[in-house]
Amino acid sequence: MGEVSLPARPQIAERQRRGAHPKPRLSAPPVRDNRDTVVEFRGVSKLYGPGGIGLELATFAVRRQEMVFLVGPTGSGKSTIMRLLIKELNPTDGRIRVAGRDLSDIERKKVPYYRRNVGVVFQDFKLLPTRTVYDNIAYALQVTGAPRKQIRATLPDILRLTGLSTKLHNYPHQLSGGEQQRVAVARAFASHPPLLLADEPTGNLDPETSIGIMQLLYRINRAGTTVIVASHDNEMVDRMRRRVIELKRGRIVRDEASGLYGAREENTDELGERLKRETS
Ligand SMILES: Nc1ncnc2c1ncn2[C@@H]1O[C@H](COP(=O)(O)OP(=O)(O)O)[C@@H](O)[C@H]1O
Ligand SMILES: [Mg+2]
Repeated sequence: MGEVSLPARPQIAERQRRGAHPKPRLSAPPVRDNRDTVVEFRGVSKLYGPGGIGLELATFAVRRQEMVFLVGPTGSGKSTIMRLLIKELNPTDGRIRVAGRDLSDIERKKVPYYRRNVGVVFQDFKLLPTRTVYDNIAYALQVTGAPRKQIRATLPDILRLTGLSTKLHNYPHQLSGGEQQRVAVARAFASHPPLLLADEPTGNLDPETSIGIMQLLYRINRAGTTVIVASHDNEMVDRMRRRVIELKRGRIVRDEASGLYGAREENTDELGERLKRETS
């Protein structure tokens, strides 16, 4: 997506002027245009006590409107990256910037304000069990200080986008797992944050329901939000044809742009149809 429209990197442009062909690019390029960078990790390590390595010297950047998958086995550091991004953890070493802001500059009491810009979806949904679908989403907007009137005005759109229009009066226990996860996505996206994180969002769902959730995240991404998804479902991730960052024991071992760059972009329905075909 953004990849093809970015200006050529200076040294490549230089080589092209000299008539040499640039080498084929196997991994994602370093980001040079800071205005386009939403997330930047530079030499980030997180040690949990002696011997407990969460992340080791991770360097990567995510551009505006990218959809990126973090993959790797359990314990490889995916959730550590997510928790660092919402400043639930602080790095032992290195620097993390989100939208140009160094997270270490954010005072503890300002962290809740920072988090309003980052939507988060978890594997186990984390809905409020005693509130309806409507109230679960409304509550998320309320805590950002949105006035009631505005919440009433924006909620129908979010319910429609997430396919929950007929479920607004239901409580979480009256919903399927897939529907509960839709509520969680709706809640994370309600305030239209520029960055959305999803940590194993399909970990508790069957393959068909997982496709629906992936489609929803893809739709949100296409509407302009940067999306980072952690998953250990490698087959699903491959089928998504997006950038993949692979972790092993806290280290980035692969950072690969998708093979789709340059090809025509799929719309959300086309993606869903293809995922269904390729999953059966
Ligand atoms: N609270 C913690 N205390 C000690 N070690 C932890 C803690 N959280 C994670 N770790 C360790 O950090 C590594 C990465 O964990 P995590 O980021 O949760 O991996 P993933 O999400 O890929 O399964 C693992 O080895 C894990 O045991
Ligand atoms: Mg995890």
